[in-house]
Amino acid sequence: MKSIGGKYFALAAAVAILGASVAARAEDQKKGAVSQQAEPAAQKTVEPSKKAEEAKLFYCKTCHGVQGQGFRGAFPMPRLAGQQPEYIKNQLQAFIEKRRTNPVMNNVAHVLSPEMVQYLSQSFHDLNPAPLGGAPQALVPAGKEIFQNGVPSENVPPCATCHGDDAKGNDKIPRLAGQLNDYVIRKLSNFENERGLKPSDADVSSLMKPIAHNLTKQQVAEVAAYVSTLK
Ligand code: HEC
Ligand code: HEC
Repeated sequence: MKSIGGKYFALAAAVAILGASVAARAEDQKKGAVSQQAEPAAQKTVEPSKKAEEAKLFYCKTCHGVQGQGFRGAFPMPRLAGQQPEYIKNQLQAFIEKRRTNPVMNNVAHVLSPEMVQYLSQSFHDLNPAPLGGAPQALVPAGKEIFQNGVPSENVPPCATCHGDDAKGNDKIPRLAGQLNDYVIRKLSNFENERGLKPSDADVSSLMKPIAHNLTKQQVAEVAAYVSTLK
């Protein structure tokens, strides 16, 4: 994990506890090598082997959870289970193009082939674990109100308009159902500094930016608590 040093030490430590992503990466390479020797006839030039795909998925899960349910460590690792494949693809591309900033994921994303991205995004979409939970329950009713009706006085439209009544998302609009509340709080509190960072490419984050901007800290905590409870 050469990309992680200094301030990401705590994150690296969390990963190590989970089962060592370094080992996972070594395993990844080993499996890739073995499958290339063992099944040359089955290898198509562009498609990653089944073993390479499974090893990569395992690697993602060392951070994102064995069921893609997310993980609370030094940084919250977002839930990917049930996420819209088009959203996952667009975010991985956004990390590569630096439209979205995150030192860990920039490095993870840039080595993935389009075929691998297709496989991984579909694999995570197909997982359906229960939400991790853990948000303050007292905030949930107010969060539900914001999600369904917005905050008209602050020019905040209902979240459901785009993210769907069930918060499952659609296409490049993410699923929020079951997402870790602490991850949602972090993202909504810093949206304009992390997304849509390539001036020449006005990506879909421009839809979300003003909304994140107009929510108060309290409202962010409330709506984050609500979505984290949804299955
Ligand atoms: C070393 C830990 C680590 C590994 C390994 C890792 N991720 Fe991530 N991933 C993160 C963190 C941390 C974030 C949150 C970034 C942020 O806060 O903006 C993230 C965010 C993401 C997001 C954006 C989610 C969202 O809701 O916007 C996607 C998609 C993603 N990762 C996919 C993957 C895939 C696919 C793999 C495997 C190829 C992978 N990740 C491997 C740590 C990791
Ligand atoms: C006009 C459509 C629209 C509305 C309304 C909307 N969103 Fe979004 N939201 C988006 C889009 C599009 C994205 C993906 C942004 C990107 O690709 O960077 C997004 C992303 C997000 C993310 C980041 C998710 C992740 O996994 O990183 C959160 C959290 C979020 N929205 C919460 C909300 C909340 C809470 C509300 C209501 C207060 C809301 N959204 C209303 C369109 C919308």
